[in-house]
Amino acid sequence: MKQEKEIIYFITGNNHKFNEIKKLFQKEELVYDLKQKTAATIEIQASSIKEVALFKLNSVNFLFSNSYFVEDAGFFIDVPLKGFPGVYSKFVLNTIGNKGILKLITDYWSTAAHFEAVIALYFQPLDKIFIFEGSVEGKVSKEIRGTSGFGYDPIFIPNELPNTTFAELSTEEKNSISHRAKAWQKLLSFLREHQ
Ligand code: IMP
Repeated sequence: MKQEKEIIYFITGNNHKFNEIKKLFQKEELVYDLKQKTAATIEIQASSIKEVALFKLNSVNFLFSNSYFVEDAGFFIDVPLKGFPGVYSKFVLNTIGNKGILKLITDYWSTAAHFEAVIALYFQPLDKIFIFEGSVEGKVSKEIRGTSGFGYDPIFIPNELPNTTFAELSTEEKNSISHRAKAWQKLLSFLREHQ
């Protein structure tokens, strides 16, 4: 076990994401300290969230001599939109928003959707890149509900809590089932094994 705390940077400009992860990290007895860092990353349009995350990680690889990671997520409406917006999640949210999404599926009674999160970590002690993935299944709400969280949270109802949208949950509740938390738990196990 190492004596001094090693800093791991989470490269993100999204404070919501950082706070979700920071809460989980604080519960752990690790020799790693988590810090947020913003950097000009390159976000490509690719066919999978994993590709986007890997490219983003590599776009900042000249910056640090520490370990660092990026996280990318996507919202997939499997029924009836065959996975849309998926890798276009950011663009679609910024253009038509949750209201526009609900309009697209207004004629469908039954829906299925999921979130995916991919963490791409550059782990300095091994000079290697590692990937951690998580997902959560659910459906699309009939209306926008709730004020916590961000992004598509107000229209996503997880299967585990079928009466609430993600935006009606506290950070702790969202963390107990979310795509990001699942990916993050895998990263935490990795860090526990490498200290
Ligand atoms: P990003 O590229 O990982 O930041 O995410 C792509 C899009 O999905 C952005 O518009 C985010 O707001 C949205 N998004 C990412 N994670 C979540 C989440 O946990 N809940 C709701 N929306 C999310």
